Amino acid sequence: MDFNKVVAERRSVRKFTDHYVTDEQLSEAMEAVRMTPSWANTQCWEFIALRDKEVIKRLVEESYPKNPATSCSLDASLILVACYNTKKSGFYKEFSFNNIGTWGMFDLGMACQTLSLKLHEMGLGSVVVGAYDNGKAKEILGIGGDYEIAAIMPVGEPAGETPAPKRREVADFLHTDKFTK
Ligand SMILES: Cc1cc2nc3c(=O)[nH]c(=O)nc-3n(C[C@H](O)[C@H](O)[C@H](O)COP(=O)(O)O)c2cc1C
Repeated sequence: MDFNKVVAERRSVRKFTDHYVTDEQLSEAMEAVRMTPSWANTQCWEFIALRDKEVIKRLVEESYPKNPATSCSLDASLILVACYNTKKSGFYKEFSFNNIGTWGMFDLGMACQTLSLKLHEMGLGSVVVGAYDNGKAKEILGIGGDYEIAAIMPVGEPAGETPAPKRREVADFLHTDKFTK
């Protein structure tokens, strides 16, 4: 698929058909994720491929019912939990180049963007879920130590079209030579 078309037509998908996302489809998408750039090529990402309906149900029960992505998580045959090692990105040895420690999230944002674009190119859809109870999710999934969750992404075949939300015009966010707001 043409790159501009993939970028323009990808949508956050919150309604899935009953198509089962196969392990082959998962592998193909993950092969694309591997190619994502990262801080000093540290590749701090870890993904949990969640298939267990009981675990998914527990995760959803601990989510916010008003989140538009909550109910589609129950229908998804695959939920990807994007995690990262907090001690890799942004560090040189013990020294942190960013004292607010956000480079790990940046790397994961890039990885999740690669993933969502690749899934779209494959005819699949996904949505980045950021509004969930982080502490409860980590407990359910056994995540601890130096690891954090960046986002949760239900994946499936889109059931119908999703209208494109409005975007800001380039002139509104592109500044020339100095910041103009
Ligand atoms: C960091 C981040 C967190 C998000 N969290 C949620 C969420 O919790 N629930 C949800 O329904 N959508 C969530 N979204 C999806 C956005 O609402 C969506 O990307 C935006 O409305 C633009 O729509 P589009 O992706 O279809 O272009 C999130 C997106 C990002 C990048």
